Amino acid sequence: MQERRAPGLGRTASIMEAPLLKLTANARLPADVISLGQGVPFFGPPSEAVVAAGRVAGSQEGFCYTRDEGLLELRVALSKKLQSENGISADPADQIMVTSGSNQGFINALLAISEPGDEVIVFSPYYFNHVMAMQMSGCKPVFVDTDRDHQPDLEALGSALSERTKAIITISPNNPTGAVYSTPVLGFINSLCRDRGIYHISDEAYEYFHFEGSEHFSPGSLDPGMSHTISLFSFSKSYGMPGYRVGYVAYPAHLHKEMLKVQDTIAICSPALSQHAALAALEVGSGYPRSFLGVMQEVRDLFKTGLSGMDGVRLPRTFGGFYFMLDLDTDKTSSEVALSLMENYGVITAPREMFGGTTCALRISYANIKPEKARVGLARLKDGLSKIL
Ligand SMILES: Cc1ncc(COP(=O)(O)O)c(C=O)c1O
Repeated sequence: MQERRAPGLGRTASIMEAPLLKLTANARLPADVISLGQGVPFFGPPSEAVVAAGRVAGSQEGFCYTRDEGLLELRVALSKKLQSENGISADPADQIMVTSGSNQGFINALLAISEPGDEVIVFSPYYFNHVMAMQMSGCKPVFVDTDRDHQPDLEALGSALSERTKAIITISPNNPTGAVYSTPVLGFINSLCRDRGIYHISDEAYEYFHFEGSEHFSPGSLDPGMSHTISLFSFSKSYGMPGYRVGYVAYPAHLHKEMLKVQDTIAICSPALSQHAALAALEVGSGYPRSFLGVMQEVRDLFKTGLSGMDGVRLPRTFGGFYFMLDLDTDKTSSEVALSLMENYGVITAPREMFGGTTCALRISYANIKPEKARVGLARLKDGLSKIL
């Protein structure tokens, strides 16, 4: 009898594994482990959002599909928010799409603008899901370095452009580094994209998370005709509702038909309950996320003060998101350091290898814990680093 073979794998086989899942999958985690790994805020959604989801759960409004691009009331509210907070003029009819999280918005946009073999420029360290999406869609990620404080190297950016470049991606405030790109830098990149006839994809998932006087800037505000800027936003971090899966994209009208093709194929629509929750959250407004900045600042300060001056540890100067990328002076790899911290010192961090690059560094997220737990996490981190490095 002929030997049976399992059917083979496809395009995802050659793509990196989801790094956080991989890191923790085989680790021996202590029961009381403290996670500085995952980038989720410690707060949940405003109660108005939860009530709104519950209100529609049993009715057609809640259990039927919505329009592919999202509820009209939500898109109208988003259009007002984009105008008043971000300076972006986007027509709810054909320039705004509600997606199942901003990651889905990203892949929608990527598939809508690219063909296999196209190049997309991404700054390193990068957000791994962006790179995974590029690899899955057949695009070639072209990595451009950032400096010691994770600001883009604009000269290197110029040299990275080619005939096949389709887009440049910026994330500000940045995951994984926490860097906030200045208005002139974002303006430079946006006009470079305009002049070259390519897209600027601006991921602004962390728009409300700025510290020490830093302010948010949306490069889409420099593109009043919305010709080449694609701006991505998320309710996950802003309103503490990552599990609801709602994000949104503002994009040039000429992409609308293409975006709809992808949307209809991947998600049809973002969950109706979540869209109602998002509308209620928007009505509560950005005062909600901003009300947590004080506590986050406290945790941020704890880490900043606690880690500065430590032998072998350098904290780049960054002002946003809710991450620090600690540079470590050691011959060990960042995964080795992260694994030892996790198993032997009870603290989860995210190794630099997840985000590209070979130098030893760890990303720590200061959003998921409150000050009391942060103190314990910091003590474990310091104890671990002082022995491992
Ligand atoms: C830069 C960036 N964009 C997008 C996302 C994903 O957001 P969402 O939950 O809306 O898909 C994340 C999540 O960590 C992120 O860091």
